Amino acid sequence: MLSFLHEAIRNIRTTGSVMPSSPALASAMTRAIRTHVGPKRVLEVGPGTGPFTVAVLPSLRAGDVFDIVELNQTFCAHLEEKHLQPFRAAHPSIPVRLHESAIEDSALDHGYDFIVCGLPFNNFPLPLTESIFRQMLDLLRTGGVLTFFEYLGARELKRPFVGREHRLAIDGLESFHRQTARSHAFRREIIMANIPPACAFHITKSGGDSRTEAGCSASTTTT
Ligand SMILES: C[S@@+](CC[C@H](N)C(=O)[O-])C[C@H]1O[C@@H](n2cnc3c(N)ncnc32)[C@H](O)[C@@H]1O
Repeated sequence: MLSFLHEAIRNIRTTGSVMPSSPALASAMTRAIRTHVGPKRVLEVGPGTGPFTVAVLPSLRAGDVFDIVELNQTFCAHLEEKHLQPFRAAHPSIPVRLHESAIEDSALDHGYDFIVCGLPFNNFPLPLTESIFRQMLDLLRTGGVLTFFEYLGARELKRPFVGREHRLAIDGLESFHRQTARSHAFRREIIMANIPPACAFHITKSGGDSRTEAGCSASTTTT
């Protein structure tokens, strides 16, 4: 907790919160992974101190692959020492790889069954949000599930207090949600047992070209 707060203050734009997610939110974010039967390739983006990571690790079996991408060096060191090294020591045949990098700079193989994403998109400029969503949908196999979250009401609360550019980014994110709901199976889930309460979004990728489906253009605001 202390490490998270310290890093949050130092890097508020990329960390986006002052507390790690609760076990209830972690459970909702990782349910599809934990209940999946059969081999799986899992990618986690933005684990922070690892509330979602620790929910995924016990579900891994021989034949599974788990990649984790985190840009913050302090969080990476914490994850390695506290969770990943002990897991690898107990399960040497299961590859769990931590990539210390921004997701947009990472080189990963395609075909993930699950992507669980903790990035604070409400803090990002629209072009970055668009390109990260495009990249994640591209990395996911058809039928795979991408899960991300945001704090409940965060966009509505922010809107009156931010400048034009930020408002456009919020509009773009909302437009993305609508486009995604039309192009893929899209489900929202409210988790009150988190500070603050959160909404998890579960996207099941349908066939077709995700490059065009994933656009978040602020100008596309039809419902
Ligand atoms: C809101 S915190 C979420 C942490 C954790 N998943 C949780 O729910 O408590 C966002 C995390 O994403 C990381 N992050 C931000 N931008 C990133 C990027 N472009 N690529 C990879 N990680 C990023 C931050 O360093 C931080 O650890």
